[in-house]
Amino acid sequence: MATEITVIPGDGIGPEVTEAVLEIIGAAGADLDYDRQLAGIAALDQNRNPLPDETLDSIRRTGVALKGPLTTPSGTGFRSINVAIRKEFDMFANVRPARSLTKGGRYEDVDLVLIRENTEGLYVGVEHYIGMEGDPRAAAESVMIITRFGAERVTRYAFEYAKQNGRSKVTLAHKANILKYTQGLFLEVGRAIAKEYEGEVAFEDKIIDATAMQLVLNPYQFDVLVMENMFGDILSDLMAGLVGGLGMAPAGNLGAREAMFEAVHGSAPDIAGKGVANPTALLLAAAMMLDHVGQPDPAQRIRNALDAVLMHGTVRTRDLGGSASTREYTDALIAALA
Ligand code: NAI
Repeated sequence: MATEITVIPGDGIGPEVTEAVLEIIGAAGADLDYDRQLAGIAALDQNRNPLPDETLDSIRRTGVALKGPLTTPSGTGFRSINVAIRKEFDMFANVRPARSLTKGGRYEDVDLVLIRENTEGLYVGVEHYIGMEGDPRAAAESVMIITRFGAERVTRYAFEYAKQNGRSKVTLAHKANILKYTQGLFLEVGRAIAKEYEGEVAFEDKIIDATAMQLVLNPYQFDVLVMENMFGDILSDLMAGLVGGLGMAPAGNLGAREAMFEAVHGSAPDIAGKGVANPTALLLAAAMMLDHVGQPDPAQRIRNALDAVLMHGTVRTRDLGGSASTREYTDALIAALA
């Protein structure tokens, strides 16, 4: 029986890349039914709330969403819908693979996965000003919150991910040498979880700054990396840079029940509607989604087609220096599906 998923085409280039991706995954043999739902500007345009209840109910029911980019108005207007969805479903693990897709990058054959804790750390936004001597903003303070519960579930997720995906090592990156309580707790919990996987998945811990340098010098020494929210935010973009930038980076947001898969890039209003957007990031997110719903064969077929076109072929969208339209690139990928 086909698996039902929620599809949120999104704003800007979202609908264009989503349609391309659905066509490719269909051709790759994915057995899915789609419940199309609105969010963001697309919902507002229909006089709806930017995050309609129907959309949330659909994700709750299907447990899996494939989401195009959503425009967040800056300064004024509604808050990020992406963040709201992650919060609503307590999607605590942000999974960011970084795999070489094209030749001529800084490195070839990089294949790493960073798992970022998505709900705690400094990004909980517990911060305030402190007034002194007539200056109401003489100082500012942010609180980093790490809980045993939060550290446990994300490090366990990292080990489970490694096990299920045939990966051999988890590196926990931290700053426990300086932040002995918060980062210390994260490290302590990670070491305890690592013991449960001894003999199955290797474990190491590394100071975050050294990890950043080592990733740039020799990324091949790493496999799966796990860290708290802000460190993961920064290093996941660094890792995307190792394999050609954010343009082709996918992300999975995993909660205890629901999961959402998306491209890392935004809605690209500058090229929206022109038929030139690159659907690769959302396609890679869809491949992660297919693995998640137990359809690894079409997922692998898609990755092989991407390798065939991007590593060995010549069809490229404009952002990659080519001249192909979304349509031409989509056709090339479909033709390359084995
Ligand atoms: P952006 O990622 O949309 O665009 C940055 C540059 O990359 C633009 O020149 C764009 O044309 C290009 N680009 C992005 N994706 C592309 C693709 N698939 N193919 C070809 N070129 C591509 O970032 P920007 O302009 O900062 O944000 C635009 C909107 O997207 C904002 O409202 C922002 O809040 C939202 N956004 C949404 C995200 C999400 O839904 N996960 C993530 C990041 C931004």
